[in-house]
Amino acid sequence: MLPAYIPNPVAALCGGGTPIDLGRNFSDGRRVFGDGKTWRGLVAGILAGIVIGLLQIQAQAMFNLTYLPAQTLLSVSLLAIGALLGDLVKSFFKRRLGKERGSKWPLADMYDLVIGAFVLLLIADPSWLFSQVTLAAFIVILILTPILHRLTNIIGYIIKVKEVPW
Ligand code: CTP
Ligand code: MG
Repeated sequence: MLPAYIPNPVAALCGGGTPIDLGRNFSDGRRVFGDGKTWRGLVAGILAGIVIGLLQIQAQAMFNLTYLPAQTLLSVSLLAIGALLGDLVKSFFKRRLGKERGSKWPLADMYDLVIGAFVLLLIADPSWLFSQVTLAAFIVILILTPILHRLTNIIGYIIKVKEVPW
């Protein structure tokens, strides 16, 4: 899951500049995504996720870690892209519900990256998904994700990269 977990914190570290929605509003008069979703964050986050994934592929080959899912360039790319697409889609619906940028939306904020990554894998590389990710691994992901999410956001808040600790 590293290629899916890395993009969010990297987006928070590197984000800024032109928003993905270019400042435009949706038909309801609210922003499409908001100022918290920027091109720089999206591109840097996806690239970082893919780089981590490529390092993982190297490490798995070097140390013969056969008990781990056999990552490919496609699988790590889909995990990274899916994670931030999930985050983007979540922000779209967050704005439609009238929630401001940075406001809390507990379950959605935690699982957006998991849903995005797995939906993209399901669409673009289902054979990898079903052959490499076991049900046990998926359950561990569901338990671990909110814990890691909370921890990284508290760290992000302490080092002043994030404005709120969630
Ligand atoms: N970020 C970015 N581009 C992205 C995703 C995140 O620049 N595609 C940066 C923004 O600076 C953002 C920070 O990472 O403020 C934290 O991300 P997140 O918590 O997802 O955004 P929020 O500001 O909370 O916005 P939202 O309410 O839309 O989730
Ligand atoms: Mg947020």
